[in-house]
Amino acid sequence: MALSLSKEKIRFLLLEGVHPDADKHLRAAGYTNIQRIDQAVEAGALAEQIGDVHFLGIRSRTQLTQATLAMAHKLTGIGCFCIGTDQVDLAAASRLGVPVFNAPYANTRSVAELVLAEIIMLMRGIPEKNASAHQGRWLKTAHRSHEVRGKSLGIVGYGHIGTQLGILAEGLGMQVHYHDIVSKLPLGNAQPHPSLEDLLRQSDVVSLHVPDTPETEHLIDRDKLLQMRPGAHLVNASRGRVVDLDALRSALVEGHLASAAIDVFPSEPTSTNDVFESPLRGLSNVLLTPHIGGSTQEAQENIARDVTEKLIRYSDNGSTMGAVNFPEVALPDHAGTQRIMHIHRNEPGVLQAINTAITDQSINIAAQYLQTQGETGYVVMDVETQDAAGLLKALEAIPATIKTRRLF
Ligand code: NAI
Repeated sequence: MALSLSKEKIRFLLLEGVHPDADKHLRAAGYTNIQRIDQAVEAGALAEQIGDVHFLGIRSRTQLTQATLAMAHKLTGIGCFCIGTDQVDLAAASRLGVPVFNAPYANTRSVAELVLAEIIMLMRGIPEKNASAHQGRWLKTAHRSHEVRGKSLGIVGYGHIGTQLGILAEGLGMQVHYHDIVSKLPLGNAQPHPSLEDLLRQSDVVSLHVPDTPETEHLIDRDKLLQMRPGAHLVNASRGRVVDLDALRSALVEGHLASAAIDVFPSEPTSTNDVFESPLRGLSNVLLTPHIGGSTQEAQENIARDVTEKLIRYSDNGSTMGAVNFPEVALPDHAGTQRIMHIHRNEPGVLQAINTAITDQSINIAAQYLQTQGETGYVVMDVETQDAAGLLKALEAIPATIKTRRLF
């Protein structure tokens, strides 16, 4: 059973050099018990350190396996200070009643800005001109060099990044067209295209912003590349498997496409010491970047703010909005009542057992919220009592209980 702790006793462990703003936000919310380790900690050493940690902050290199999580007896929440959550055994965390939060859209703007810059660079032939100048050649020409104003931009995948890009590109006078498999509200003057082929045929530049799914693997293959306008440009800052890079190389070498900018690759080096291999290496009309579309200081600051806000909200008030493995509940303040959180295995009869426990104690419920997801159920109750210790004990005794927590 977990009674509420005073904030200074709630222990945060932040690994992997999480952005310093995280500490700033936590301290501003009254959480001062923060320990930092600026590297990733390997599983064995981590298991020894997390026994009394309530909230754990990691980035992408810390592996949180079922075995490691099992050592974190007091763990209440996990913050992934990054976009992905593959490094955490999410099912194991759910079974332990631990929500996992991340910041999926904190770098949206960073990607959109890079892509916009690349579109301008490609349409002016900057990759070749830059490469030539480095080799001592003065490629001063307006041949195949264009303003982006008035040109048509085809966005494939009109989600968070695609829509941001569309708005920015319209600001430069581009005509924005998009294709998505889901019907999306067009922002500004953007034009939807139900057919991808149709979009490819009429775009001066095509930019890809789809997720990595079985359907998007080689979405842009040789046939699709040949459907693009002669002299068009391609940008991919989505996921590496979306484009068939051998087919793209051929389309560029044959001169069907004028140029490309590629930020993501089917196989990427895992460290700065690894050699980067790609069929596009050596082509002077291709801008290659090492998957840095979302890598900016601002994105890191956004991640720090977004993830700490989610952890603070969960600790302060029980809200789980934004959790990736847990029932999502948005909760109001609970002034004048005690809030009790009950995390349980999602089995029939648990809510009835909870309500019986409350009735047996003759406690009035001011509000009750229930949400389930997969194998986990989450009930939050605001109860009108000064002494909830007996109730917590009764809730703890319900067989399906994973965890209980009380907030004042
Ligand atoms: P999102 O989920 O907001 O948008 C994706 C859109 O693609 C959705 O509207 C979806 O309906 C659409 N879509 C899915 N399958 C499609 C298909 N077969 N054809 C057409 N549309 C399809 O995702 P968000 O945040 O905009 O990210 C887009 C991509 O950018 C993702 O692959 C993400 O991993 C990548 N990304 C890359 C970064 C980098 O550093 N280069 C940083 C951040 C995200």
